[in-house]
Amino acid sequence: MSQQPVVAVLGLGAMGHAFAANLLKKGFTVRGWNRTRAKGEDLVAAGLTLSDSAAQAVEGADVVIAMLADGATTRTTINQVQNALQQGATVAQMGTIGVEATDALIAGLAAARPDVVFIDAPVSGTKAPAENAQILVMASGDRQRAQAAEQVFAAIGKGTQWLGAAGASSRMKLVVNSWLIGLMQSLAESTRLAEQFGFTTDDLWQVLEGGPLAAPYAKMKLGMIASGDFTPQMHLIWALKDARLALDAAGDASLPALENIVDVWQQAVDAGYGEQDLAAVYQYLKR
Ligand SMILES: NC(=O)c1ccc[n+]([C@@H]2O[C@H](COP(=O)([O-])OP(=O)(O)OC[C@H]3O[C@@H](n4cnc5c(N)ncnc54)[C@H](OP(=O)(O)O)[C@@H]3O)[C@@H](O)[C@H]2O)c1
Repeated sequence: MSQQPVVAVLGLGAMGHAFAANLLKKGFTVRGWNRTRAKGEDLVAAGLTLSDSAAQAVEGADVVIAMLADGATTRTTINQVQNALQQGATVAQMGTIGVEATDALIAGLAAARPDVVFIDAPVSGTKAPAENAQILVMASGDRQRAQAAEQVFAAIGKGTQWLGAAGASSRMKLVVNSWLIGLMQSLAESTRLAEQFGFTTDDLWQVLEGGPLAAPYAKMKLGMIASGDFTPQMHLIWALKDARLALDAAGDASLPALENIVDVWQQAVDAGYGEQDLAAVYQYLKR
């Protein structure tokens, strides 16, 4: 019958739900688990086997995707499932959990389950690209043993960039997100300045459009600012988590702007903007 691997998705939030939906659309056998079961129930009609525990979900899975909020949750969940993983299974950790948690996962799994292949595989792209299978997977680990994972990545994304030994991708993910976070803060501040001078977001975009500063990401976020609709593509609270993870792992690299952004974004979270899209920092600056 099918050569497709059986996949378990642990975490059916914005991103994990999109991964599971795309895998089901492409004919994979998908098992799923989410702490809040209701978030996976709409996928049952599409063929998802929804389990009540993470350990139950991974039984018989060739590839296990972890797409959970943070490092602590991911480590707890992987600990709970590690004895239930089938022999030679692949675990693909796809959340943004930073360097320390990733390195601890790699060491823990290598000690407890040396037969298991661990692929460090965070992604670039938010909810809408995930729903449209347009994310980029940054993969690191033993590529020779990752054929099953590569099939899964091909089904949920537009490409996979291999970066070396496991752990490299989680480092690169922090690099990418520190760029994204800086861009967002700069765009929010520039928009505030434009308004101060009597310009609209359209005026600003018309000047940028067609030139080297016209980042598609900036266009999307300017659209959110113009509409006032900050329905989360990426929660501000998770972006703040990522900024902190980058600072925690930065070592000797001096990142003063990122340090300031963490202070400002923490204030925005304290003011109640955490569950909105990170573009809501603009609203916070405007309040
Ligand atoms: N959204 C993006 O743009 C984006 C892009 C790239 C990477 N990421 C990263 O991908 C990961 C998931 O992001 P997301 O946007 O899918 O977040 P999300 O929608 O908030 O989903 C978070 C997931 O983690 C689960 N979770 C949280 N705390 C838990 C706990 N204590 N125990 C068990 N499960 C718990 C949630 O379960 P419940 O449903 O029960 O709360 C849910 O399944 C994060 O690391 C994020 O930084 C996000």
